[in-house]
Amino acid sequence: MNKEFYEIIDSLKAYVDGEKISGEREICFLPRDAKAESSIAHGLAVLKEKVSSCQKCPLAGGRMNVVFGEGNPNAPLMFVGEAPGADEDSQGKPFVGRAGQLLTKIIGSIGLTREDVYIANILKCRPPGNRNPLPGEIAACSPHLVKQIGEIKPRVICALGKFAAQTLLSSEAPISRLRGKFHDYLGVKLMPTYHPAYLLRNSSGKKDVWDDMKAISKELGLTVP
Ligand code: URA
Repeated sequence: MNKEFYEIIDSLKAYVDGEKISGEREICFLPRDAKAESSIAHGLAVLKEKVSSCQKCPLAGGRMNVVFGEGNPNAPLMFVGEAPGADEDSQGKPFVGRAGQLLTKIIGSIGLTREDVYIANILKCRPPGNRNPLPGEIAACSPHLVKQIGEIKPRVICALGKFAAQTLLSSEAPISRLRGKFHDYLGVKLMPTYHPAYLLRNSSGKKDVWDDMKAISKELGLTVP
């Protein structure tokens, strides 16, 4: 056996001893960052499995797919929208319709891609005819989102539109008053901004959304392209 082999054994032994001292009962030989990432992904997968059979509100009866959310489990930035529409319901993915294409551009405006961030909604199932979420649906579904945020632990949440902002902040203030500044959501900085579907109808809101994205980018220490 050569010297290098014994050095590897020694450092493995030191690693295992260190894990035992720090109270770890399960020893994992992945690099630390990969280990953290895989346990967040595991936590999200367990939650997704549970949510996929949710029957807590009548929307379960009309869905094609539960739209759990998707993206980087380690994302520093998480977007939260309102509820899936027809495209999202049929594909089981958030923000894949016209509003989603605009959201992809908004994410790109600060030099990120959809794969860098995490995207989810207040409701995981589509309300019929894309009507507004009902208070009972929000009450039934939002615990799923709270757990999802708890797994991802983003540094910043961007709440898209009135329903996301008002639900997460337990506020009834209009989105025009909530947007433009950071709020506290259980210790996470939360920036409300206009929903991309609103921007498709009111392009005058784009300047405000750009200002909100610049504030998020600054908070995350990103360099705006
Ligand atoms: N609007 C939303 O709020 N969420 C989606 O996933 C799609 C459109």
